[in-house]
Amino acid sequence: MRRLRPLLLTLLAAPVLGVAVDSLASDPEILYAKESTPLFAVQKGQILGQITPGTALTVKSKAGGRVQVELEGWAEEYRELELFAKKEVRIEVASLVRANKKNLTEIGTEAGRYDSVWKKVKLTGWVDARRLDKKLDNVWKAARDIHSERCTECHDFMPSSELTAQQWSGVLRIMTHRAALTPEEAVLLKQYLQTHAREKAAE
Ligand code: HEC
Repeated sequence: MRRLRPLLLTLLAAPVLGVAVDSLASDPEILYAKESTPLFAVQKGQILGQITPGTALTVKSKAGGRVQVELEGWAEEYRELELFAKKEVRIEVASLVRANKKNLTEIGTEAGRYDSVWKKVKLTGWVDARRLDKKLDNVWKAARDIHSERCTECHDFMPSSELTAQQWSGVLRIMTHRAALTPEEAVLLKQYLQTHAREKAAE
């Protein structure tokens, strides 16, 4: 359980001490997956699946080079092993090989389009500390380098905002091969382009 912030005290003390209110608040630490990151059920346990690069993880505890993390995602009913950032927008945050009840908790259900049902879930587990970065921009910088260096050999630079997340998924199936990206480069670029994609298709 998170401790409740002494909000009143923070508000009163901040101007006096000349410190930003934010730096006094005991917000949980957030770290970002730099690459495809294996998630383990317990600190030295069974593998549950992979977290995608750029996914924000809330830190719960740390021990022996591993970090216990928590994340939220959305899964379509009957396809509970694929977790996405939002309902119906298929930007993957994690793909699981098993749905351990201790690690995966359902926290809500919502109806989607075409009679689909989406479940909001909370996923916990352990990851290797070396695969995490404090700054999301460091993760995206590596992706921007791939985008500008490897995707401009045959045509002009195509900004992420040209296509929707779904359109990028289709285009990248072909372009990843044309640019001869490694699987790891491909997944990083895909996460970057989808996260920075346009919301709706161009008319
Ligand atoms: C070896 C050459 C080559 C490389 C490298 C390449 N492309 Fe392409 N790309 C093409 C060609 C040719 C087309 C024209 C459409 C087609 O033939 O599929 C194209 C089309 C596109 C389109 C437009 C697709 C559409 O349907 O509107 C996008 C977006 C795109 N490429 C993105 C990328 C990205 C991102 C990368 C880097 C991962 C990349 N391309 C690397 C050759 C390449």
